[in-house]
Amino acid sequence: MPYHGVISRYGSLMDLPPHTHPVTLLEGNTPLIPVQRLAEEMGGGFDLYVKYEGLNPTGSFKDRGMTAAVSEAVGRGARAVICASTGNTAASAAAYAARAGIRAVVLVPEGKIALGKLAGALAYGAQVVQVKGSFDDALRLVVEISRKHPLALVNSINPYRLEGQKTAAFEICDTLGDAPDWLCLPVGNAGNITAYWMGFRRYNAEKGTALPRLLGVQAAGAAPLVVGHPVERPETVATAIRIGRPARGEQALQAAQESGGRIIAVSDDEILAMQSLLAQLEGIWVEPASAAGLAGLAAEIRAGRLDPRAKTIVAVCTGHGLKDPDIILRRTPNILTIPAELAALEEAVLG
Ligand code: F0G
Repeated sequence: MPYHGVISRYGSLMDLPPHTHPVTLLEGNTPLIPVQRLAEEMGGGFDLYVKYEGLNPTGSFKDRGMTAAVSEAVGRGARAVICASTGNTAASAAAYAARAGIRAVVLVPEGKIALGKLAGALAYGAQVVQVKGSFDDALRLVVEISRKHPLALVNSINPYRLEGQKTAAFEICDTLGDAPDWLCLPVGNAGNITAYWMGFRRYNAEKGTALPRLLGVQAAGAAPLVVGHPVERPETVATAIRIGRPARGEQALQAAQESGGRIIAVSDDEILAMQSLLAQLEGIWVEPASAAGLAGLAAEIRAGRLDPRAKTIVAVCTGHGLKDPDIILRRTPNILTIPAELAALEEAVLG
């Protein structure tokens, strides 16, 4: 059967109102890639998979939630959407608004958004507004303006975003035949971990699949759910999750706890080391934030905290490496340049 996106595939399990008018870029249906060399590198003894959400149409998992939020908004006659974003939500909102023929306004923290995301939002024709402040400031502003004016808010405060994002849990269960023992993923504004838990619980109720434990991973400089209070000046190389006041923080903590899992923090160095390891060992290049789930898993294993009965582990890699090319180029200062001569090439390659 031809594939028509997540609403077409899983709409019967999504709580969307009848006026929903599907706007899709055929998002979802992303691969669950076995990464056994990486599993061995971490100590082995389990099957490890990457749910590669960077292969969605705009390069991140946000497209699952955006198809739902924009479809609902368009169905009730919205002519414009607005969001705050560290970048990926902005690009996704811009693309789905373009697809629907409506306007998109995106607020981003000035100077703290990766190149591929900014370029994406502009390419899809959104009005991009930079805020002198953090993502948290931008989110406060879009909530305020959307209360006063007819601008449909498409941040994950919007419940339909979660309805869309929970389909990734369905796909994982459908591919594996059951839920994994652990699901590891990065946590920023905390919508995605909340949505996964909704999805796994729904499948558990409908189809009797198991419930995984959730390992949510924040960056150490932006870890409000680990330190237990908002972080006023969040800082991390993983700009996607540079968030100090997660909108769905309470629900994320509850999801982790209900699942028998936890939310932990890893350093920027651990995130970047995992980004390189995944790319160089498995050929999967993800943006820094997307390596946080795996970095957290590696840290838990090193600390002897992973339940040895865990046999199947899925790590969600939320965004493509191409979103943030600068981070790689900055860490690779000298690329060899040679004259266009065979001898020089031989010297370079063969030593
Ligand atoms: N990974 C990536 C690549 C992200 O862009 C985000 C969030 C997350 C993980 C965390 O997901 O917020 O649901 O906990 N990006 C948002 C944005 C904040 O604006 O694009 P979360």
